[in-house]
Amino acid sequence: MSATETVTTFTLEPTSTKSVRTYKDAPGIVVTKTKSVPNELIEAASATLYLHPHGDWRDQLIRDGYAVIKAAIPKQKAREYQQKAFGWMKSFGNDRLDFLDPETWKKENLPPVDVNINVYNCYGVTHEKFMWDARMEPGVLGAFEKLWNTDQLLASFDGLNVTLPNRKDAQRKSPWPHFDQSPYKAGLHCVQGIISLSDHGPEDGGLVVYKGSHNLFNEFFSTQIRKEDWDEFNYYQLSDEQLQWFLDHGCEEVKVNCEAGDLVVWDSRTCHWGMEPTEKSNTVRTVIYSCFTPAKFASEEALSKKKELFENFSGTTHWPHADLTAVRNPTHTNVERTGPLEKPVMTDKLLKLAGAKPY
Ligand SMILES: [Fe+2]
Repeated sequence: MSATETVTTFTLEPTSTKSVRTYKDAPGIVVTKTKSVPNELIEAASATLYLHPHGDWRDQLIRDGYAVIKAAIPKQKAREYQQKAFGWMKSFGNDRLDFLDPETWKKENLPPVDVNINVYNCYGVTHEKFMWDARMEPGVLGAFEKLWNTDQLLASFDGLNVTLPNRKDAQRKSPWPHFDQSPYKAGLHCVQGIISLSDHGPEDGGLVVYKGSHNLFNEFFSTQIRKEDWDEFNYYQLSDEQLQWFLDHGCEEVKVNCEAGDLVVWDSRTCHWGMEPTEKSNTVRTVIYSCFTPAKFASEEALSKKKELFENFSGTTHWPHADLTAVRNPTHTNVERTGPLEKPVMTDKLLKLAGAKPY
């Protein structure tokens, strides 16, 4: 999900315990390292979440590593955002694309991107008005304010996923179970979100999580991965054997089903991947990745970088306060779009969430 799914595959020696895949050198990704706030300070702040039960979805997030927040957006509103997303998909001179006609669901009718994935985070889409409007829906932003117990948050410039089921010209991707957090970060640093704009049943693809794996994150790295293979990069993909370790330790694979308007959240220490629709699905999966963390998690340097990225309408990874990685436009096309078709309303709140204005 997010820019993190734009990856390059490497072959490793059998004895290595390095991640089986990394996106460090992937095309289109420019990793920018900025001075970060010490992990201990972030973990001390996030530890307050665990002080007492909450009586809501936060308890499930703490226990299972993920939660579904029902009707974060009214269903009708979600459908409207989905139509906006469809409009963006058809804005590249590709009028032949018809979301009701599977015969038109092929590469030449889709937005031109380098990698055959379902996530779009270039051409300024992450800053389209409908993307910001969805992120700033009270039920979405409010959930993250509740989670972090502050209204001084930063938003990710994360992508749009439109998955056309059973495309004849694209292969179904294999599972890529992974963590989106470095083992050097032991505590809670990031909670990721999916705003669902379509209904997702068991056949429709979507997030797969390994329930409870966040609780084993530190044990796994300290007992199964050589320290010299730890990386500060916030991504670690598991081999089949490593995934089995989690299953053997009681983690259950769960395909998360949800409806249009629901917000799915998960701890970045929860092992997960995105399942493609099965051949029985006819749903056009449409989701907006959306993540918020406290502004105080970002260093001055990171905030400055974030402001620059926003002003350039760049997409990034799902991390709002770190890994401020610009997603470049594809290089093989002649599309010269560098910003949103419809710019968001630059309210005081939005500029603060974007890191373009200080709190
Ligand atoms: Fe991920």
